[in-house]
Amino acid sequence: MERVIEVIGGDGNVSKIAIGDVLRRLSEWLPEGKRVIIITDANIHRNYQTLIDQYENVIIGFGETNKTLQTVEKVCSKLIELGVDRGCFILGVGGGIVTDVTGFIASIYMRGLRFGFIATTLLSQVDASIGGKNGVNLDGYKNMLGVFNQPEFVLCDTSILKTLSDREFKAGMAEVIKAAMISDYELFKKLESVDPTTLKSEKELLAEIITSAIEIKAKVVMADETEQGVRKKLNLGHTFAHAIEKCSHDSLHGEAVSIGVVIISDLAVRMGHITEEYRTRVVELLQKFGLPTTTDVTTPKLLKALKSDKKRDSNGISVIIPSGYGNCDIVHMSFEELNSHFV
Ligand SMILES: NC(=O)c1ccc[n+]([C@@H]2O[C@H](COP(=O)([O-])OP(=O)(O)OC[C@H]3O[C@@H](n4cnc5c(N)ncnc54)[C@H](O)[C@@H]3O)[C@@H](O)[C@H]2O)c1
Ligand SMILES: [Zn+2]
Repeated sequence: MERVIEVIGGDGNVSKIAIGDVLRRLSEWLPEGKRVIIITDANIHRNYQTLIDQYENVIIGFGETNKTLQTVEKVCSKLIELGVDRGCFILGVGGGIVTDVTGFIASIYMRGLRFGFIATTLLSQVDASIGGKNGVNLDGYKNMLGVFNQPEFVLCDTSILKTLSDREFKAGMAEVIKAAMISDYELFKKLESVDPTTLKSEKELLAEIITSAIEIKAKVVMADETEQGVRKKLNLGHTFAHAIEKCSHDSLHGEAVSIGVVIISDLAVRMGHITEEYRTRVVELLQKFGLPTTTDVTTPKLLKALKSDKKRDSNGISVIIPSGYGNCDIVHMSFEELNSHFV
């Protein structure tokens, strides 16, 4: 079954997200008669060469170290070499790195080209490719340069996840659990009943879960596209996740989010926002999906790293705190106040 969710951007443009067996109808999603240029990474090219080589393509390296202005420059030079103009359509095929970079390039190359995505990791299907945030890192700071610009479509085909490593799949599940904790207790309960060992191959169930997670993000994005308020809730677990990623370079983003969700759930218990019972269920759910729930990085080191978070302001930082089943609050705290909860 195919499902389509719409995200309507602030400019009124509609971004369509299709979930299910959607790749077999790829040509119907592409604009008729336009030249299509794919941007992808070397791993995905190796796995899906037949699909990708049907179109002109530009290959980037894989990994966070490639999410840079240098990559943007290299790809743009290649686009000039290929004679790509504003009449062309750019298709990003990949995980969050490829879609973040592609969306940025498509937004700035010749002041903007039409673009869409095929999201190939679970994390990009439920999170990174949805919502119109595109950009690159700078000087070790994540996503410092970027734009809000919605892709025309995002194709989330569950079959493409078959070649994804188990570790990457699990990392994507952290964002699904996060989404359930933000606003969907039914999804949380469903995840508690799922068999994690078979989920990747249960196409229908997987599509249902991906759809629920996308619906949560789509709703929040439509309410607050440029993150002035409620969109901040999508950062549940991310305040500490970013600090963990800064302090230890061997964890995947989703793994850091899993640990960040536990740290913030512990804090929520101490502040009286959630019960110990809910916190235990959160930890057990993350562990069931093979996600880490503790870190070797010490709390003082994490709190220090937090102070350089780009989302901080002069008075402190907005922390997203779980506040009951399928709910969370945005709480602004000074660093002193935050520190006081960890002594
Ligand atoms: N824009 C947003 O709103 C947003 C939200 C969340 C995360 N992100 C960004 O997303 C990035 C992380 O994305 P990610 O977790 O998808 O990582 P990724 O893009 O690095 O992909 C993970 C790895 O899996 C490989 N891969 C991808 N699809 C595959 C497939 N189907 N089969 C086999 N291998 C495959 C890739 O080559 C890569 O090595 C981070 O840079 C993060 O900042 C952006
Ligand atoms: Zn994330």
